[in-house]
Amino acid sequence: MSTFKTVDDMQVSGKTVLVRCDLNVPMKDGTITDTTRIDRSLATLSELVDKGARVVVLSHFGRPKGHVVAKMSLRPIADALAKEMGKDVAFASDCIGAAASDVIASMNNGDILVLENLRFHSAEEANDAIFAGKLAALGDIYINDAFSCAHRAHASTEAIAQILPSAAGRLMQAELDALSNVLENPQHPVAALVGGSKISTKMDVLGNLVVKSDIVIIGGAMANTFLYAQGINVGKSLYEADMATQALDIIERAKTTNCEIVLPIDVAVAEKFAEGTANKVVAVNMIPDEWMVLDFGSASVADLKARLSQCKTLLWNGPLGAFEVTPFDFGTNAIAREAARLTTEGSLLSVAGGGDTVSALANAGVTNDFSYISTAGGAFLEWIEGKELPGVEALKNQ
Ligand code: 3PG
Repeated sequence: MSTFKTVDDMQVSGKTVLVRCDLNVPMKDGTITDTTRIDRSLATLSELVDKGARVVVLSHFGRPKGHVVAKMSLRPIADALAKEMGKDVAFASDCIGAAASDVIASMNNGDILVLENLRFHSAEEANDAIFAGKLAALGDIYINDAFSCAHRAHASTEAIAQILPSAAGRLMQAELDALSNVLENPQHPVAALVGGSKISTKMDVLGNLVVKSDIVIIGGAMANTFLYAQGINVGKSLYEADMATQALDIIERAKTTNCEIVLPIDVAVAEKFAEGTANKVVAVNMIPDEWMVLDFGSASVADLKARLSQCKTLLWNGPLGAFEVTPFDFGTNAIAREAARLTTEGSLLSVAGGGDTVSALANAGVTNDFSYISTAGGAFLEWIEGKELPGVEALKNQ
C-alpha cells in the first residue's frame, strides 16, 4: 500500500469529502437482499463523519445506461445506509449541478449525503473529463473506497482522481492488502480453487494462476471440460467441447511452471439437475452416458482436504459443484468448511471472491471464518487475471 495515500494522509475535518462507494447491492422487488457492500462501506464513512468531514457518497446502482430509471434510484439505498449508520443521511436527486451543490451547501461538519445514481449520466461510463470536473467541483478531497468498481475506467473511479487530491478508503485498502497477500507476496504452498461453468470466461484467470500458485484445483462444469479434453466420457454433463485444446494448453503450461492441476477423481452424477433426483458417486472414468456430473465425490473431497492441509495460502473463486441444489452442495460445503477450519486454526490464509463465491461460502456457513472475502465480482477476477485496474492505478503516486 506504500504507493497509495489513505484517509490517514488527508486533513478531512471541515472539508467536503467525495467518497466513491459501491452501493450496487442486490435488490429484489424493492428490497435489498444482501447489505454486505453497505456494511463494508461503513468503516470509511463513519471515520470521516467522526473526523468532522462533510461526507458526500458517490455510487452507481445497476446499469441504467445513461437514462434516469426510477427503479435504479439510490434513494432506498441511502435509507438503508441511514439505518446502518444510525444517523440521518441526506439525498440529492442528481449527482451534479445545483441539485447536488445546494444540498452540500446546507451540510454541517459530520453530515452525510448520498448523491443520485452516477450512471443516470452516460458521461460517467464514458470517463468524461467534463463530467468528472462537475463531480470534482462538489468537493475538496476524493476517496475511492470502491475496489469492486476499480476495473471500470469511469469518471467517478478514474478521471476524478486526476483532478482532486485522492486517497484509498479503508475498504479499498483492505481489499488490496488481502489480494496482495495471496497473489503478490504469498506464503507457499499456494492453492487456487477455480470453479464456475465456463473455461472460456476463465482462461486468463487460469493462465495467471498456474504461474502464481503451486496447485490449481479446477471445479464446477469447467472440470468437465478438462476431463473431456483428456478423453474421458462426461455423459450429459455441461462442458465446452470447443475449449478442449485450451484446457490441454493450460495443463501443459502448468507443467512448465511446476503447478499441479487438480481434477476430481470421483464425481456425483444425476440424471437431471433437480432437487431430489436420483444420484450416485462414480469414478471419473465411469460416468454413465445419460447422466451428468454435478459435484465432486467423497474421494475427491478427501484428496482436496489432504492437499489443503499442506498449503499455507488459498485463493478461492467459484463453487466446486452445483451448490444451489442439495445434495450437490456436498463438495463445496466440505471444502469450504475445511478451509475455514484450517484458517481458524491459523495454518491457512484464505481469500475468496468473485461471482457466486460469496453465496457459496455463505451457504456453507463459513462467511466469518475465511481470512478475507472480497466484495468484488468482476474486479476480483480481473485482479487475479493479473490486469491493472484503472481505479487502482489512478490512486497511485498522488
Ligand atoms: C459489481 O457489481 O461488480 C460492480 O458494482 C460493478 O458493476 P458493473 O459490472 O455494472 O460495472
